[in-house]
Amino acid sequence: MVPPATSSERFETVILGAGAAGLYCAPFAAPAGRVLVVDHAKKPGEKIRISGGGRCNFTNLHTTPDNFISRNRHFAKSALKRHTPFDFIEKVDGAGIKWHEKTLGQLFCDDSAKQIIKMLLDDLQASGAELRLETSIEQVRKLESGFELELSSSGKVYRVRSSNLVVATGGKSIPKMGATGFGYRLAEQFGLKLVETRPALVPLTFSPDFLETTSPLAGVALEATVQANGPSFQEGLLFTHRGLSGPSILQASSYWAEGEPLVVNFDPRSELPAKLRDMRSTGGRRTIASALAEHMPKRAAELLASRAAANDNRNLADLTDKELTAICDALSHWSIKPAGTEGYRTAEVTLGGVETDSLSSRTMGVKSVPGLYFIGEVVDVTGWLGGYNFQWAWASAHAAGTAIANGER
Ligand code: FDA
Repeated sequence: MVPPATSSERFETVILGAGAAGLYCAPFAAPAGRVLVVDHAKKPGEKIRISGGGRCNFTNLHTTPDNFISRNRHFAKSALKRHTPFDFIEKVDGAGIKWHEKTLGQLFCDDSAKQIIKMLLDDLQASGAELRLETSIEQVRKLESGFELELSSSGKVYRVRSSNLVVATGGKSIPKMGATGFGYRLAEQFGLKLVETRPALVPLTFSPDFLETTSPLAGVALEATVQANGPSFQEGLLFTHRGLSGPSILQASSYWAEGEPLVVNFDPRSELPAKLRDMRSTGGRRTIASALAEHMPKRAAELLASRAAANDNRNLADLTDKELTAICDALSHWSIKPAGTEGYRTAEVTLGGVETDSLSSRTMGVKSVPGLYFIGEVVDVTGWLGGYNFQWAWASAHAAGTAIANGER
């Protein structure tokens, strides 16, 4: 039997969620008074631990508001401007963590993502904030002034009260790592609107019919430009047993809507027309597939040649300029209709979330409920692949934490 709730402990700020945003927010909020961070997981920052292949792509040097998807594309500007990648790098340097730029402004730890978690926990501890893990949030109530929460841990139910409540419970991706969608339900409890959520930065799947054609390519990686209903992304593309993955596909997945086509350009540097013409004049007695194999892995070349040239087995030498151009066009505009996505099981982030119209872009505070804040992934701000989502977690956490410290509402 659950014991009855006892009298309330008092905190200035309670932060729900000990992920990237929640942990980072605590020391900024601490000057205002006692801070408690609560999480139902056994360990804090689990997504940080597995991020970036265990090395955490903790920010991106080229962060701009254009690298984020939100119904209000101006919302993220203020927070991102007031806490930049260089502010976070300063902390990382201060903690003695060695890092490197991998590509496209993406910064990774040289050693381990665990160093970032340790840095966040050290800062939290130094600020005097308290962290309670394996603690469930049973109820949240608005009081005339502040909030009352019913928490439970090891079968013990107790109440805490606070002036400020920061919701940093993240999105729905990777439920087995503790993602619950709790923050969305809490937003609804307070009458806030949600922008429809769906998995993003997620591999795409093909129908069983189409998969028969592509599954022999599973494991083949090449460079491509991919575009859904948004910007095009030129990065790696990977054929999988279910469909497509790789950075260019993950990026495009955030803009892709079910039923829509995806356009893949297998000649991102526009080299093929000249290359094929050269090969025709120097060694024209080769098939299109063998010519393409100089440009991409052989298995991919065979499949793409058969589709682009409609099983035309003639040699290059027998093709007219017009026919060569048509083949190159087909390779640079490969339109496919994915059947779906791999869903929240493998998605890196959740698109949509708490509608930003309800929030102050300066403080992340709910306009209609003074003292209530939403930060990180639970908000309708979703970054591209490449360290942008952590940068949003840090920047929004800083915005809320400093607003609390400065008594801004
Ligand atoms: P986050 O998910 O980090 O934290 C939420 C916390 O709330 C969790 O600790 C959870 O246990 C807790 N919680 C949830 N429901 C609760 C409840 N009901 N009660 C109590 N606690 C609850 N981004 C990036 O920029 N660079 C990268 O390299 C990667 N790599 C990456 C890899 C993988 C595999 C994934 C899944 C994601 C990434 N990301 C990423 C995305 C990044 O991890 C993500 O955007 C941030 O962690 C979001 O930070 P939040 O603090 O908002 O949520």
